[in-house]
Amino acid sequence: MIFLMDLQMMLLDVIYFILRNSVRAVLRPRIKSIEGELVLITGSGGGLGRLFAREFSKRGAEVVLWDVDATANERTARLVREAGGKAYAYTVDVSQREDVYRVADSVRKDLGRHVTVLVNNAGVVAGRRLLECPDDLIETTLKVNCHALFWTVKAFLPQMKTQNHGHIVTIASVLGLFSTACVEDYCASKFAAVGFHESLAHELLAEGADGVKTTLVCPYIVNTGMFEGCRIREEVEMVLPPLEPEYCVDQAMNAILIDQPLVCIPRLTYLPFLSRALLPWESNVVTYRFMGSDKCMYPFMDAKKKHTPNGLKSVSEAVPSQQSR
Ligand SMILES: NC(=O)c1ccc[n+]([C@@H]2O[C@H](COP(=O)([O-])OP(=O)(O)OC[C@H]3O[C@@H](n4cnc5c(N)ncnc54)[C@H](O)[C@@H]3O)[C@@H](O)[C@H]2O)c1
Repeated sequence: MIFLMDLQMMLLDVIYFILRNSVRAVLRPRIKSIEGELVLITGSGGGLGRLFAREFSKRGAEVVLWDVDATANERTARLVREAGGKAYAYTVDVSQREDVYRVADSVRKDLGRHVTVLVNNAGVVAGRRLLECPDDLIETTLKVNCHALFWTVKAFLPQMKTQNHGHIVTIASVLGLFSTACVEDYCASKFAAVGFHESLAHELLAEGADGVKTTLVCPYIVNTGMFEGCRIREEVEMVLPPLEPEYCVDQAMNAILIDQPLVCIPRLTYLPFLSRALLPWESNVVTYRFMGSDKCMYPFMDAKKKHTPNGLKSVSEAVPSQQSR
């Protein structure tokens, strides 16, 4: 009897959330204030990370900027300060566990307060065919895009849980929900990032830590240079062009500020996610061929080979951690 009542309640809840989310897709729900929050952004030296820093700061948050590239990160800090915001830049290699824990301690000591929003944004891609890809590049992708999530969350989640207040944001990718050829390192790391994030979200809810929110952001290709040259069929690209970074961050911010658990940008990319789950593998393969998604990474790899013949910057090139205000 109790089972049947629970089942009925569960079904009603399922319907309620479907209706609520449909309404939310049309009517803008109330956004939360982040004024005074301390927001830590990894990979803040460029691309999306720099824009996230600008957007959070614009809304009254103070930003802690983590990047392995000290010069680029300092530039982000300067831009935030010039716009009247407060930024604290630290040089950190997020793939190095000890580095993450040590600098997290420095942040707590230097600022005397806890990080309340963590945006795991740093990411890399090898951009080589698997059999031509040096092992250390593959390892770096997995360490930066996946392992680092464990270390940063372990460093900052305890205080969020104690206060039952916070927000963990993971910038994954649509390539964490469906895949394509020649980005094995990236897809493996982003599928892992999605799995990590969702498991964490379930853990927080199961424990009743519902004041700590989570948002998983899965963007399609963004014009930041990371996937420079990647091309799908021209006619399809007219419907699904690469995203402008500002649009991507705008959409992600909207999701974060309404505590939305998952956002795919643009919405059209929910389709391949669904078709991967629902259609036979071969149906997806022919769709990929039609759209030119099967070989979309070929021009990207050619371009990457030309620009960086030696591949990614090695993690051992990371400069020692330092901070600037
Ligand atoms: N650009 C795209 O097409 C695209 C698409 C989907 C998802 N994403 C994801 O969005 C995030 C941001 O991408 P982006 O396009 O802004 O990339 P980007 O290359 O412009 O910026 C990435 C930043 O991460 C930093 N970084 C790299 N390794 C690091 C390390 N070990 N420690 C600390 N910082 C490190 C870099 O210095 C750089 O400032 C990434 O996680 C990426 O995978 C990007």
